[in-house]
Amino acid sequence: MRKVMILGGTGLVGKAIAEHLKDTYEIIIVSGHHEINQGYTCLVEDTERLLDILNREIPDIVISTLMGAFDAQLKYHDILGAWLKNHRKKMIYISTLNVFDKNTTKPVDERTEAEPESEYGIFKLQCEKMLMKYLGDDLAIIRPAAVWSRDCKRMNQLKDCSANGKELKSYPGLMFTITLADQVGEYVDYILENNLSGVFHAGSEDMVDYNKFELMVCDRLSIPYPKFEVVEVEQPAYQAFLPTVRDIPSGIRRTIADILDSIC
Ligand SMILES: NC(=O)c1ccc[n+]([C@@H]2O[C@H](COP(=O)([O-])OP(=O)(O)OC[C@H]3O[C@@H](n4cnc5c(N)ncnc54)[C@H](OP(=O)(O)O)[C@@H]3O)[C@@H](O)[C@H]2O)c1
Repeated sequence: MRKVMILGGTGLVGKAIAEHLKDTYEIIIVSGHHEINQGYTCLVEDTERLLDILNREIPDIVISTLMGAFDAQLKYHDILGAWLKNHRKKMIYISTLNVFDKNTTKPVDERTEAEPESEYGIFKLQCEKMLMKYLGDDLAIIRPAAVWSRDCKRMNQLKDCSANGKELKSYPGLMFTITLADQVGEYVDYILENNLSGVFHAGSEDMVDYNKFELMVCDRLSIPYPKFEVVEVEQPAYQAFLPTVRDIPSGIRRTIADILDSIC
């Protein structure tokens, strides 16, 4: 059984990946601040501990789904990339659609050149490029859109605002694509099973208006609409990628309607 180490394996995306791979791979979870029963804790600032864990476990594949301090993360991924290269191991890096956030006037696809503006997007692209230099064909990058699940923070916030009369920031007019957390697990599985590398955009194949999606979720859950604090967005506005240029199997494709069925 190949050994997969999931950095950030206690988060929304990491947990979904672990759940998806657990029957086929040996899974090692690494969390950040939270103690866990099985696996390791390691903060991104603690690169010595990272090396200790890597040398003890010698994983075949490392999947990074980390959040946290950007500067420390860059150094952490630098050390990780060098270790993986030296040991001829593979990596999947979970990046973000934010690597395109400078120009939001049209949707993007894998052929669009990444151009970030936010600190987050700039950091993620820097990390992608650095890892690509180390690992080349031993690296796959998955860029999810906004990730939703039945009990993600966005869902819980929507329910909380609906139940307790709190205002929820919303962006009517912003067209966006959505990624089901489980879908990231399915992409990882597909990439590993087929020994693929390169960049993958994982998300719905169609777009939806940000605020309309929130209303649809409320309708499906039969809960009242929350009060929205409307944030004006300059038109046209997209945080979306169009259907992928890759030949992705139908089983891991999703529409907005499929995602609504899964999360509500
Ligand atoms: N959620 C989205 O909508 C979305 C969209 C696009 C891309 N992404 C990407 O997907 C990845 C995972 O996102 P997520 O939503 O799953 O995040 P999350 O739920 O916040 O999980 C983040 C993980 O990182 C760990 N972590 C946080 N700070 C850390 C630190 N300083 N040192 C070490 N570990 C630390 C957390 O462990 P502890 O809690 O134990 O600290 C947790 O396991 C990220 O790389 C993000 O950029 C997410």
